[in-house]
Amino acid sequence: MAGKTEKLLSILKLQPVVPVLIVDDAKSAVGLARALVAGGLKAIEITMRTPAALDAVKAVASEVEGANVGAGTILNARDFDAAVKAGSTFIVSPGVTPGVLDAARGSEVPLLPGAATASEAMALREAGYEVLKFFPAEQAGGAAYLKALSSPLTGTFFCPTGGISLKNARDYLSLPNVVCVGGSWVAPKELVSAGDWAGITKLASEAAALKA
Ligand code: 3PG
Repeated sequence: MAGKTEKLLSILKLQPVVPVLIVDDAKSAVGLARALVAGGLKAIEITMRTPAALDAVKAVASEVEGANVGAGTILNARDFDAAVKAGSTFIVSPGVTPGVLDAARGSEVPLLPGAATASEAMALREAGYEVLKFFPAEQAGGAAYLKALSSPLTGTFFCPTGGISLKNARDYLSLPNVVCVGGSWVAPKELVSAGDWAGITKLASEAAALKA
């Protein structure tokens, strides 16, 4: 597990913000990912919420130089395996199930598993996970809640996601137990459907300039 944790941290520490993407068209994913990488966001999470998601991971993995593409919203072992096969370098889940943990155990690709409570984080610690997704961050209690977990759960680190934007990202990034944040705000639907890659690169640059 130590090797996989290192692998995950090396990806998450590439930047303060991991873009969380819902992709409707695999072709536009390439332009979108190139725009994000140009702005300094190299680790990109494509959520498995659309029929195009797996093809989008494949396309970004093979066509976008400098991108580190991961798959998000992994809810079961079958999706985990399909996402790895498509070329994902990391896997993100909103929570965990025994099936997801089994798939992760059998894979070299690291998992960033979701947790929203002290008990969930402790159970994942017992399973060997030190780096967790805190989800849904704002709705579960926000930066103040996560700060309260930092002393009792020393040695557990989080990537908070859910309701985070340029406005509140610093509240999280300034905490000692936060590695990076995740968010969809760097790829708004209007800019993506308009193919406004320069606009996306601008948002990505602003996000990349935040400090973890
Ligand atoms: C999600 O899984 O939808 C992510 O947490 C992104 O949330 P956001 O759209 O609030 O950034």
